[in-house]
Amino acid sequence: MSVHKKEIKRVTTHVLQAMKARKEKIAMLTAYDYSTARILDEAKIDVLLVGDSASNVMAGHETTLPITLDQMIYHASSVIRAVKRSLVVVDIPFGAYQGNSKIALDSAIRIMKESGAHSVKMEGGAEIRESIERVLSAGVPVMGHLGLTPQSIYKFGTYSVRAKEEAEAQKLIADAKLLEEIGCFAIVLEKIPASLGKKVSEILTIPTIGIGAGVNCDGQVLVTHDMLGITKDFNPRFIRRYLDLFDNIKGAVQHYIQDVKSEDFPSKDEQY
Ligand code: KIV
Repeated sequence: MSVHKKEIKRVTTHVLQAMKARKEKIAMLTAYDYSTARILDEAKIDVLLVGDSASNVMAGHETTLPITLDQMIYHASSVIRAVKRSLVVVDIPFGAYQGNSKIALDSAIRIMKESGAHSVKMEGGAEIRESIERVLSAGVPVMGHLGLTPQSIYKFGTYSVRAKEEAEAQKLIADAKLLEEIGCFAIVLEKIPASLGKKVSEILTIPTIGIGAGVNCDGQVLVTHDMLGITKDFNPRFIRRYLDLFDNIKGAVQHYIQDVKSEDFPSKDEQY
């Protein structure tokens, strides 16, 4: 019998479920464009999230609210063209699913049909139950998102840790159970106490993916621009920076400018 782990050819929602069952952690990162998605997919990231954080890191908006469904579909189709292995999840943006399950279904179908994505993500619990159920009824896999839900930032007022009080923690647990019961395949838990992340992960049979929700979640997600150090001024405790690309890229660009101005570039070998 081979001692080697079976190579995952294509990550599906079922693969994620099996990973939770065998206690193998799930690694998820964001991607919004072809070139980055290609690198992350080749590195064997399990899940690629076309997050509405594109509104912040790609477009420079202060919140995730302004990004449109058309823009999300553009980002998602660029990512999909690069991917051979990862499961691609796409955020349904603000205003494209809340409060009207028909709009939610139309948005999810547009994302799946026009981008070729594999699943969608929606923020919230009981208050969006009908929308999630309608999307699921069309055969579209849904990832939930609880805790700090950035599309509701104007309701919260701040980006501080959620569910520190017992009542909010209890609501989050009830919402998590509901999302599992109605058929979500996984849930992102954002910026909640690690003890609550652990509790929810133990209660649920579907995987939890944490961002600032502690080590006991079944997987972790970061915004790629944060972990690569492309963003500079956003420094919550939950980010680990693996590179300092902002300064590295800036240095390379300054070097290039110098080479152009001094006529060092192009050299004889770099021209025809
Ligand atoms: O949009 C996003 O990047 C997200 C992650 C922070 C989970 O929702």
